[in-house]
Amino acid sequence: MIDNNKIIETLEKKLMSFGGDSKTQNVGTVTKNTDGVITANGLSNAFMGEKIIFENGSAGTVFNLDEDNVSIILLDDASGIKEGDALRTTGEILSIEVSEDLLGRVIDPLGNSLDNKPKIKIGKKMPLEKIAAGVIDREPVSVPLKTGIKAIDCMFPIGRGQRELIIGDRQTGKTAIVIDTIINQKSDKRPVVCIYVAIGQKRSTIAQVIDRLNSEGAGSYSIVISASASDPATLQYLAPYSGCAIAEYFLEKGKDVLITFDDLTKHAWAYRQISLVLKRPAGREAYPGDVFYLHSRLLERSVKLNKENKGGSITALPIIETQANDISAYIPTNVISITDGQIYLQTDLFNAGIKPAINIGQSVSRVGSAAQTATIKSVSGKLKLELAQYNSLAAFAQFGTELDAATQKQLDRGKRLTEILKQPQFSPLTENLEVISIYAVTSGLMDDIPTDSFPRFEKELHEFAKKHYQDLLEALSSGERPTEQTLKQINKLVEVFKKRFV
Ligand SMILES: Nc1ncnc2c1ncn2[C@@H]1O[C@H](COP(=O)(O)OP(=O)(O)OP(=O)(O)O)[C@@H](O)[C@H]1O
Ligand SMILES: [Mg+2]
Repeated sequence: MIDNNKIIETLEKKLMSFGGDSKTQNVGTVTKNTDGVITANGLSNAFMGEKIIFENGSAGTVFNLDEDNVSIILLDDASGIKEGDALRTTGEILSIEVSEDLLGRVIDPLGNSLDNKPKIKIGKKMPLEKIAAGVIDREPVSVPLKTGIKAIDCMFPIGRGQRELIIGDRQTGKTAIVIDTIINQKSDKRPVVCIYVAIGQKRSTIAQVIDRLNSEGAGSYSIVISASASDPATLQYLAPYSGCAIAEYFLEKGKDVLITFDDLTKHAWAYRQISLVLKRPAGREAYPGDVFYLHSRLLERSVKLNKENKGGSITALPIIETQANDISAYIPTNVISITDGQIYLQTDLFNAGIKPAINIGQSVSRVGSAAQTATIKSVSGKLKLELAQYNSLAAFAQFGTELDAATQKQLDRGKRLTEILKQPQFSPLTENLEVISIYAVTSGLMDDIPTDSFPRFEKELHEFAKKHYQDLLEALSSGERPTEQTLKQINKLVEVFKKRFV
């Protein structure tokens, strides 16, 4: 016969021996270990998301509460845990230690350092799961978050506190956009803490991103959280929440934070994997039914707080990878409906040399224009419409019909606009230079420059302006609508430069 009292007594002894307190905490035994998902009984007081400690020192978190057992996902190596092992609750929700020391570091989702740098100083415990700020604590988006990418800043402006989705097939430049945005924060007068969360990517790809951030001087204000394809699904699942917890630490201090999730498709895969092991019923495309909730509770945590709450913000740039441009697949539609707009990248544009490969018609930013400065608004007002018209005309003109002069002119202008919006990687522009470029084309000043010389023309024009037109650049940095005088000066700049350009 089994003596229950005896079992409890030995368990309590075990609990004490690995640092527990039998008055406030629970102790139980492992009944099953299936691929890192532990089923245990005896944990009558456990709650969802609670941190659990095993006899051998491993940690886990509660993922399922059933009538007579709980399921726990392991945060580290599963092989050491077997049936009959003791485990205890901690009374704490899973959290990550955050301090300013994290800036410039690469960590895993539990806060362990992955670079060979000195030990990270212990900081404040921030819970991985937290209820997002309510409407009363928020205020509308009003400050721009400049990406330094002409096409985005002009047509799909992003504000601090906004959630803008970057969506597209493989190899369409999704990561490039978020990396350029992080690099561009270097030049902003109001500094932004940048967090790059890598989920389910190859380690070599993550290493390249880290290298690039450092070589472009963005390392000092960035934090990289890495859960690569070779890490357990549980870590990949936790990574974006860790990122959010870190972002909230800086938010509490009134700082502006940019967080990028690269990418949430792989996050949904990790969650699906865990859920299938937990035997949760599969729904559409085999994702568990609450996969929408998974992403919405994550993205709701981006916020623009009001003055009473120190006025900080979290801007989120989630990435979603599509298959064969299918933005109506399950996960893409979910995330599109959660975010405040999307930037849709397309393979055929990319292959046609239009980089960034943004599909103008299907991209949108629903709140960012409120945050756009009057300076950039003044030159980009009609841009989107003109380009959309150009694209439909261009499709028509392919048939080789005779075109009237007006249509020809529109086509020509559209072609030039498309050309000026191309931008190489790792060269984000300040707002004043963006304005000069766009104005030079929309006002017709560059009509006599062949489009294939545009990249060189633009680059040298910017150099020239920086050397000889400092006043103009300053006037264009004020955020105000450019005066007649300023516009005249841009005209002069371009005309003078054109004479030197060979
Ligand atoms: N604006 C650009 N100009 C020139 N090359 C670019 C530009 N943007 C991206 N690229 C190049 O295109 C390739 C794909 O870019 P990137 O890795 O950002 O795409 P991705 O969509 O994130 O790909 P994946 O699906 O593999 O994550 C890279 O080699 C990158 O250097
Ligand atoms: Mg990528």
